Amino acid sequence: MILASSRRSNLSQHIDFPVVLWSGQPSPRNFPANVYPFRANSHFLYFAGLSIPRAAIRLDRGKLELFVDDPAPGSVLWHGPEPTAAQWAEQMGADAYYPLAALAERAEDAATLPVQDWATRQQQMQCLGRSVSPLEGQDLELAKAVVELRLCHDELALSEIRQVVSVSVEAHLTGMKGTAKASTEAQVRSLIESVFIAHEMTPAYSSIVTVHGEILHHDRSAHPLTPGDLLLVDAGAETLGGWASDITRTWPVNGQFSPTQRAIYEVVLAAHDRCIAQVKPGQEYEEIHLEGALAMAEGLVDLGILIGNPETLVEQDAHALFFPHGIGHLLGLDVHDMEDLGDLAGYTQGRKRSDRFGLQFLRLNRPLQPGMVITIEPGFYQVPAILDNPQFRHQYDKLVQWEKLAQFKDVRGIRIEDDVLVTDQGAEILTAQLPTTPDQIEQVMIN
Ligand code: GLY
Ligand code: MN
Ligand code: MN
Repeated sequence: MILASSRRSNLSQHIDFPVVLWSGQPSPRNFPANVYPFRANSHFLYFAGLSIPRAAIRLDRGKLELFVDDPAPGSVLWHGPEPTAAQWAEQMGADAYYPLAALAERAEDAATLPVQDWATRQQQMQCLGRSVSPLEGQDLELAKAVVELRLCHDELALSEIRQVVSVSVEAHLTGMKGTAKASTEAQVRSLIESVFIAHEMTPAYSSIVTVHGEILHHDRSAHPLTPGDLLLVDAGAETLGGWASDITRTWPVNGQFSPTQRAIYEVVLAAHDRCIAQVKPGQEYEEIHLEGALAMAEGLVDLGILIGNPETLVEQDAHALFFPHGIGHLLGLDVHDMEDLGDLAGYTQGRKRSDRFGLQFLRLNRPLQPGMVITIEPGFYQVPAILDNPQFRHQYDKLVQWEKLAQFKDVRGIRIEDDVLVTDQGAEILTAQLPTTPDQIEQVMIN
């Protein structure tokens, strides 16, 4: 836990007031002992280094106090021996520990960040005697300091991210190889998640394993696999310590891309490769997004789907008819790292989200710095809610060759997503072991 302790002392360089962070608690499904899996709040995990339910830490000028109760006397029957408060404190390197009930008198004047679960949120408000959302005053100052620290990852974080990426790559390969024998989305999903489980990891978000890739966050896997369909798989594990990966590949159910699928896939891949080539310190992420948009527009003009000058098409947001989301986001303890803080992490202070059709879902708008891990994830989708929208249809009618587009109806959704570390020199593609080209993917699928 040496590095978690250096995170705590780094925080004390940024702020001079006490901080209390809560881990959260498992939410019951029905009766109190039947709970959803527990996952500690990411800010707590970052500074505590350990996932402990119903705990809080108080940080004050580099000193750490832990607030947690010993296991309840009857608990051993159901859960076996669990660490005592003293043992947790020792593992964490805490300077002192107290029962949770002692927190109220030590929390006065402390800043905090809101947790997600409602029961703990109420405890936070009770303990502090005030609301914790929206962020303001010292809470906002704390949030800015935490963003400063969590934007660029330390060695401990990078080593966990490398582990989780390697397991997630293995999971995708297992899914690709097993698709020939699968008859439903759910069967491929089970192959992928079985690899996570075998490594004592969990999905970092609901896996997307679907032949309806045009539904961007399709989190159900109920469809049969039909030859001729493309399967879009967006799945990534997280480590026990909470560090996430986020990978997407799209492959043909029958192991071979059709000519139309391959043509669009090559357009998305060109956008992916051009964006990754731009990742380096100092590079504005918005420029990378616009490079991806331009590559998509160029490719779609070449295929005869869009009509016009690619630069102008991007200025008109015409690419967003088919690539409506941002090129990616920060990755770390959360798959969309620190988005619990709104755009405080994603956007440099003073920058605001655009409401332009082609920029509204850009989640990151900062110059890149060494140590950041970001995703690059261009995609092409035929989303009925966009393409059949009368307003878009009217606005973009003359820029799309609709009859040409109809020839590509076997492409509902393609996304290619990699996790990229910004290094001092440029970039390292952490997910590089997972093939991206159509030929490589077809090769994996027949093995
Ligand atoms: N898995 C969600 C995303 O790619 O942003
Ligand atoms: Mn992503
Ligand atoms: Mn993803």
